[in-house]
Amino acid sequence: MSVINTDFEITANELIAEETYVLRFRSPELAQQLLPGQFLNILTSTHIDPLLRRPYSISDIDGDECEIMFSLLGKGTHALARKRPGDTIGVLGPLGNTFGYEASFGTAIIVAGGIGVAPFPYLSRVFREHEIPHITFLGTRSAARAVTRGLSNVHLATDDGSAGFHGNVIAALTDYLDTHTIDNPRIFACGPNAMLMATQQFAHEQGIPCELSLESEMACGIGICQGCPIEHRQRERKYALVCTEGPCFDSQDIVFHEHHHA
Ligand SMILES: Cc1cc2nc3c(=O)[nH]c(=O)nc-3n(C[C@H](O)[C@H](O)[C@H](O)COP(=O)(O)OP(=O)(O)OC[C@H]3O[C@@H](n4cnc5c(N)ncnc54)[C@H](O)[C@@H]3O)c2cc1C
Ligand code: FES
Repeated sequence: MSVINTDFEITANELIAEETYVLRFRSPELAQQLLPGQFLNILTSTHIDPLLRRPYSISDIDGDECEIMFSLLGKGTHALARKRPGDTIGVLGPLGNTFGYEASFGTAIIVAGGIGVAPFPYLSRVFREHEIPHITFLGTRSAARAVTRGLSNVHLATDDGSAGFHGNVIAALTDYLDTHTIDNPRIFACGPNAMLMATQQFAHEQGIPCELSLESEMACGIGICQGCPIEHRQRERKYALVCTEGPCFDSQDIVFHEHHHA
């Protein structure tokens, strides 16, 4: 697999939920190579500010087109939201590892928080193609921010109770498991660190294998700047780089700290 660093033509950029966009660009090379869980490091602007690229999960592939999903946060995502079909976008990828979807398990439990839903349309597509049973727990602040396209068997949890379960996504999953049995489950989680910490604890208590896709801040995306360390139990040097050794990790290997973004 070779990493590509090229400008690609944007084919669509749509507002699909509150402050949340899906952007598509045409790249047969990347569409053929990218696997669920991997990410792209994207130049959001040709101006000097923001200078650094921003990482985005590959959200889905459709023929020759690649899709990313983002919600507005700072300068980079506001610049991305202004892109129009016909504009070009600088993309470096494929980067990072994949979800362990080839591991042995019965049913996948997808746990997504906020824009952490981004990698799951593609993972769900692969599960559907291979007829792997899966169920999705999606937690958002409100119904207006929920993005369910490309997902299957979705259980929504909202912080404000505007739709679905009123509460966080782990409370929704706990509630579900009180009345349902899931055969040989494996959790695939992505979202803010506070949610990932709760998922890690839940998986540990329940004895469910679990992998976490981390959204930590990054700069280079290719292992050079050392700007994305996470404490890792299996590494002799005690940390792993999220960009090259992740972003997907076995939840048992990761140690979160209070200073990690909530
Ligand atoms: C592997 C990986 C995959 C990602 N996939 C997606 C994705 O698919 N969609 C998406 O919307 N985002 C994704 N992110 C996060 C994405 O890179 C941030 O949204 C982006 O950096 C925000 O850029 P910005 O210029 O708009 O905000 P900035 O101006 O960079 O930041 C605004 C504020 O948010 C804080 N901040 C920035 N990045 C993060 C972060 N990752 N976590 C918590 N706080 C942060 C900053 O400290 C600052 O206070 C991913 C991150 C990683 C590492
Ligand atoms: S972002 Fe530079 S080493 Fe990971």
